[in-house]
Parts: sequence; C-alpha cells; structure tokens
Amino acid sequence: MTARATHILLVVAAFLSGLVIFLGVFLVATGNMGSGNSAPGASAIGGPFQLIDQDGKPITDQDMKGKPFLVFFGFTHCPDVCPTTLFEVSELMRSLGKDADKTSALFITVDPERDTAAKLKDYLLSFDPRVRAATGDRAAIDAVEKAYRVYSKKVPSDKDKDDYSMDHTALVYLMDKQGRFVAPFNLKRTPAEAAAELRKYL
Ligand code: NI
Repeated sequence: MTARATHILLVVAAFLSGLVIFLGVFLVATGNMGSGNSAPGASAIGGPFQLIDQDGKPITDQDMKGKPFLVFFGFTHCPDVCPTTLFEVSELMRSLGKDADKTSALFITVDPERDTAAKLKDYLLSFDPRVRAATGDRAAIDAVEKAYRVYSKKVPSDKDKDDYSMDHTALVYLMDKQGRFVAPFNLKRTPAEAAAELRKYL
C-alpha cells in the first residue's frame, strides 16, 4: 500500500472510531435522559473548562461563547491525524472567508506534559491563525477530557523507551453560540461544504 493510501486509511479509521465513541456517548446520554434525572435537552458533551492558551493566557468555556466553535483534542507529536485535522480546519477557515471571524476553533492537548503554551504556539504557525490551542495542568486537562467524553491514553514507543505516543478521540465537536454541543463535525468533505454547514450556526 502506498504511504498516501495508508495515510487516508488511518484518517478514515480515526474518524470511524470517533463515530463509534460518539454513538456510545449518545446512547449513554439518551439512557440518562430516559431516567428523568437530566433536564430535557441537557448536553452530555462539553461544559466548563479553565485552560491556558498558546500565548499563556487563561482561556475558559466562557471565552468561547457568542460564536459557534469547533473543539478537538490531540497532541503536537501526533504524526498523522492531528495535523490532518488542523489542516482541514484551516482550509475550512479559509473557505469561510470573512465569516471565519464569527467562529472559532480550539485544539486542546491531551499531552500537557510536552505541549506547553510555547510549544503549542510554535505548532500553530503551520496552520490558520484563527485556530487556537489550549493546555493546562494534568487535572485541568483531565477535567476537560471528561467534560467532552474524550478518551486519551499514553502509549510507550517500542523504538525508544523514553518516547511515547497518545491514543486519543479524534472527533471534532461543533458547539453552538451558547457553548452547547450540536454534533460531531465532519471535515471529510470539501472545505466549501464544511463552511456551508458551519454557517448554519452563525
Ligand atoms: Ni492525534
């Protein structure tokens, strides 16, 4: 198989595994609502967070409100899926044109030990300037992962015992202006199609 074909398969596999996780979350959420303990329409995904952005400044869920936004999780050492997602989000921003400023996108690291604010800032140079990134201490990252029902796990490298990778949920979450979860956002389409979808929430 060519490297390109392998690459595409990896991206598709990541997206499909993300969908499976989402469906699982959805079923759990539906089950909870059926028990009558949750308010109708209460979102099972998202919620308050307190992190640090790529400039070292505090960023919270309150800062994201007022615009529909995309939020997704990953780590800068990710070889494939994360850079692909960031590239796709960048293409989406470009396709949105002027409307891009009415939205935002936040990449939250699942690897805060290596992904400092400075590291994130450097990493973002490769992508659209409207994409922001966030890190925090382990407790803050654990909390935001929990809020978004994100799975992540450290995987030691078999080549270098001091190195590791991170398995993680690769879903992109679309949140509305009030910061409520709408749906997983599909970037596996043309930037113009993705932009048309996002514009519905402006
Ligand atoms: Ni990744």
